[in-house]
Amino acid sequence: MEVKTFGVIGAGQMGNGIAQVAAMSGLQVIMNDINDEFVQRGMKNITNLLTKSVEKGKMSADEKAAVLGRIKTSVSLQDMAAADYVVEAATENEPIKFKIFQDLDKICRPEAILASNTSSIPIGRIAAQTKRPTQVIGMHFMNPVPVMKLVEVIRGLPTSDETFKLTWDLAVKFGKTPAESSDFPGFIANRILLPMINEAIYALYHGVGTREAIDTVMKLGMNHPMGPLALADLIGLDTCLAIMETLYKGFSDSKYRPCPLLRKYVEAGWLGKKTGRGFYEY
Ligand code: CAA
Repeated sequence: MEVKTFGVIGAGQMGNGIAQVAAMSGLQVIMNDINDEFVQRGMKNITNLLTKSVEKGKMSADEKAAVLGRIKTSVSLQDMAAADYVVEAATENEPIKFKIFQDLDKICRPEAILASNTSSIPIGRIAAQTKRPTQVIGMHFMNPVPVMKLVEVIRGLPTSDETFKLTWDLAVKFGKTPAESSDFPGFIANRILLPMINEAIYALYHGVGTREAIDTVMKLGMNHPMGPLALADLIGLDTCLAIMETLYKGFSDSKYRPCPLLRKYVEAGWLGKKTGRGFYEY
């Protein structure tokens, strides 16, 4: 099967990034969200990034117009009937994702592939929501999507080799480097990254250091591009908490318990960069 039309569910920070890289690779893209405000915000973000690329001389104005012309916005899931391949990048919430997959399974053509950008929900559990489990897979992009080179490709137990190969090849077409992970909580990326971030939050909670000291140690001492607390703000503290909960429940191991300070921030609505306040103010 050749993928020509690529659907993206969710126009948020991950969704609009995925739509952008797909459109830049030449695919026709349908970017969907639950209301017009969200899809327009997503389009605005893509337009701003493309404008910056033109200003930096990395892209011509014609290319920018062509990329934007390949992205159609949608507020109805029914539009996914036209897609060959759909990536869901909705909020990291199991019931919401399950409902989307149940609906997509009814709407999409029988041969269409349904992927999830989930950062931690088991792919097998998502696949079980559909009548096409062999065509369900994890396609996990990193934030910020246009910049980060990795796509984690997660095979659920029922995922077919054809679905896997198609997804792998798509990641390469998008200019990314894929890495294969099997379907365990947190996969590879978040199994390793999130406990580090959670530990940094514990260090803050225990008064081991200030937010600046903790981030400076990891930035300058370990050459990380940004400190773990700033990274948590970029990812979103609600997402960080959801991933820690998945690791904690999935392995039944207390070493993954989320830091109470992380929970407190999320309960206060301090979700990081997207709400203007997290470990830092924006
Ligand atoms: N969207 C698009 N492009 C962006 C961007 C964004 N949000 N932020 C920065 N960029 C671009 C800039 O425009 C710039 O592009 P040029 O090279 O063309 O000029 C380039 O990235 C570098 O940006 P800056 O010079 O402004 O800043 P920087 O060098 O500090 O890089 C960063 C910023 C890329 C975010 C870098 O700090 C970094 O790599 N941080 C770590 C990010 C990371 O770990 N991501 C993974 C998170 S985990 C995840 O996503 C998975 C999950 O499930 C939770």
